[in-house]
Amino acid sequence: MWEADDSRDLWDDTPQAHAPRAPRGDRFVTGNLTTDDLDVERSLRPQKLDDYCGQDHIKQSLRILIEAAQSRGECLDHVIFSGPPGLGKTTLATVVANELGAQIKTTSGPAIERTGDLAAILTNLQPGDVLFIDEIHRLNRSVEEILYPAMEDFALDIVIGKGPAARSIRLEIPHFTLIGATTRSGMLTGPLRDRFGISFRLDYYAIKDLAQIVLRSASILGVSVDEDSAQEIASRSRGTPRLANRLLKRVRDYAQVRGTGAVDIAIAREALEFFEIDELGLDWMDIRILERLAKTYHGRPVGLTTLASAVGEDPSTLEDVYEPYLLQRGLIVRTPQGRQATLAAFEHLGVEPPRA
Ligand SMILES: Nc1ncnc2c1ncn2[C@@H]1O[C@H](COP(=O)(O)OP(=O)(O)O)[C@@H](O)[C@H]1O
Ligand SMILES: [Mg+2]
Repeated sequence: MWEADDSRDLWDDTPQAHAPRAPRGDRFVTGNLTTDDLDVERSLRPQKLDDYCGQDHIKQSLRILIEAAQSRGECLDHVIFSGPPGLGKTTLATVVANELGAQIKTTSGPAIERTGDLAAILTNLQPGDVLFIDEIHRLNRSVEEILYPAMEDFALDIVIGKGPAARSIRLEIPHFTLIGATTRSGMLTGPLRDRFGISFRLDYYAIKDLAQIVLRSASILGVSVDEDSAQEIASRSRGTPRLANRLLKRVRDYAQVRGTGAVDIAIAREALEFFEIDELGLDWMDIRILERLAKTYHGRPVGLTTLASAVGEDPSTLEDVYEPYLLQRGLIVRTPQGRQATLAAFEHLGVEPPRA
């Protein structure tokens, strides 16, 4: 059985959050992070805007907003980052805190179970702190309501007593900046969304930016990687820095055992083939999804849950992790009737499309 939400393991930093996996050896896109992976991921995480590659528009805007807030001596307005897993939302939250010279306190939507938990976090903030709430769309409703006055008026409304004797008192809390991250901006409630003054949507990265990330990571890891191989790894990373770093590490391992340790284009290609990453960066689960749509269902629309059980994957993982990239590459489309393979998918698989 799959856990209800095993999409988490791609980007949740807690080892225990990782659900059991299908016995197939190497899960590239949603693979479990080992403790070693987590340490490496941390060491590769940019600390300042200058180290953060790509997303130029977001970086430029943030520089202006940060400088403006600082010159007024105020806290930065609350910020929300949305976008698929692994694009650098958590990293950006840390980077913003560093640029502000502020302390960052980190928590996540599902971790805050009761209103009291959030009240405790808020009352413990120091003036100017950054509070980072990951997966903020998963806050429960009563907890979320505590956030509204906190974000708007830096106040906490506490109800004392029960029944007719109950009364509400208002506590002031320090001014702070809330940074939220979400993979599902559509699941944010209107009132919460409205309270963020600044909102950025992260997009898949261009190959040249990913190549730069690969080269940067290679130098931190002390691996020799030439430009061509960086480009090759980048082009198979689904536009996603986390996957670019993960692929780099696999290629490094392969080069160590089968080559001299240095990564050139020949060994990079050989390694990527060995790990079954195709030239679009699709892994075997992507291929399985496309094959079910193209071969089993002959290009007819298929509902999410049907498709999920046909490929043995959890529906929310399918929707959060696999689907956005396949949609972006034009390999599938979403119709009111369900998901459908496109002509490009048939072509990619080398399967004859059904005659219209
Ligand atoms: N713009 C970037 N430049 C360099 N490395 C990045 C960038 N964005 C992400 N990364 C790398 O990818 C990893 C995953 O990023 P993360 O912030 O955890 O993604 P998210 O929170 O969106 O799932 C980070 O550890 C970092 O090493
Ligand atoms: Mg994250």
